Amino acid sequence: MEAARLLTKLEKEDLRILMAIEIGMKRSEFVKVNDIRFYSRYPIEETLYRLNRVHKYDLIIRNSSKHDLGYTLNSKAYDLLALRALVEKGTIAQLGPLIGKGKESDVFSCMDDKENIFALKLYRMGRTSFKNIKKLRDLIGERTHMSWLYVNRLAAKKEYEALRSIYELNLNTPKPIGYNRHAVVMEYLRGKELVYYSDIDDPRYIFDKIISQIKHIYQKGNLIHGDLGEFNIVLDQQGNILIIDWLQSVPSDHPNARLLLLRDIQNLCNFFRKKYRIISNPDDIVKSFFTNKT
Ligand SMILES: Nc1ncnc2c1ncn2[C@@H]1O[C@H](COP(=O)(O)OP(=O)(O)O)[C@@H](O)[C@H]1O
Ligand SMILES: [Mg+2]
Repeated sequence: MEAARLLTKLEKEDLRILMAIEIGMKRSEFVKVNDIRFYSRYPIEETLYRLNRVHKYDLIIRNSSKHDLGYTLNSKAYDLLALRALVEKGTIAQLGPLIGKGKESDVFSCMDDKENIFALKLYRMGRTSFKNIKKLRDLIGERTHMSWLYVNRLAAKKEYEALRSIYELNLNTPKPIGYNRHAVVMEYLRGKELVYYSDIDDPRYIFDKIISQIKHIYQKGNLIHGDLGEFNIVLDQQGNILIIDWLQSVPSDHPNARLLLLRDIQNLCNFFRKKYRIISNPDDIVKSFFTNKT
């Protein structure tokens, strides 16, 4: 990844300039040079010198209007800031290859200094498609200036916290390792999504296992996945599963909880019925969530 390669080339003053722009972006998309100077606390010469450097490295975008020169971070710069923070904290030490591309994220493998392998999810919402942002409406509220930076930071925080709250249930959800800005580091399962298997060994067993975990998470973790399906379940060759992608999760006391739960279960039932001829009744399954305690 390019941001990771650049990390070794940048000087700490370059990073400080990027962070000064980041602060300014809370208020407006483009940050005026004078504000960048203010937030970085560098003299104007140093500010201009650093802006020039990071611009050459293609980390910032200059606005086109002649008066009121301003700059904004691009997503490469944001990746870089998140990666650096995670490295400094000792959460990760090395970045590996891209392992997944989701609807709203890029996922890389990464390693800490003890050679534990994790998944690093970088959120990428809002720049190409704003329709995704609707899903975050409850987080965003009615704000008018809503930068992609902020949206993605909120998303990472939300997913990290959801993972943390269900991790203690000891089920097949990724152990949260850390997060920074738009990045979440979590347990990695070397496999592929359920949807990409042409066949699996014991579909009934996998189906029952997923349902019982979703039930457990609902009853004990008070959480509903909200985007459950064959794309968000990773399976490896040994039959281990990992239920991923908890961004859209909602608490079980949400006004639409029962509907969302039903939709999740329906997705799962449909997939297993069409592909593996497993017949089930989503309504009955959901009912059982409310009556039989685990
Ligand atoms: N913890 C993980 N272990 C293994 N693969 C993962 C993990 N998290 C994500 N992936 C891979 O990355 C893809 C995208 O991740 P996901 O969390 O579903 O993002 P999105 O919200 O963009 O759909 C997944 O479909 C999967 O292939
Ligand atoms: Mg997904």
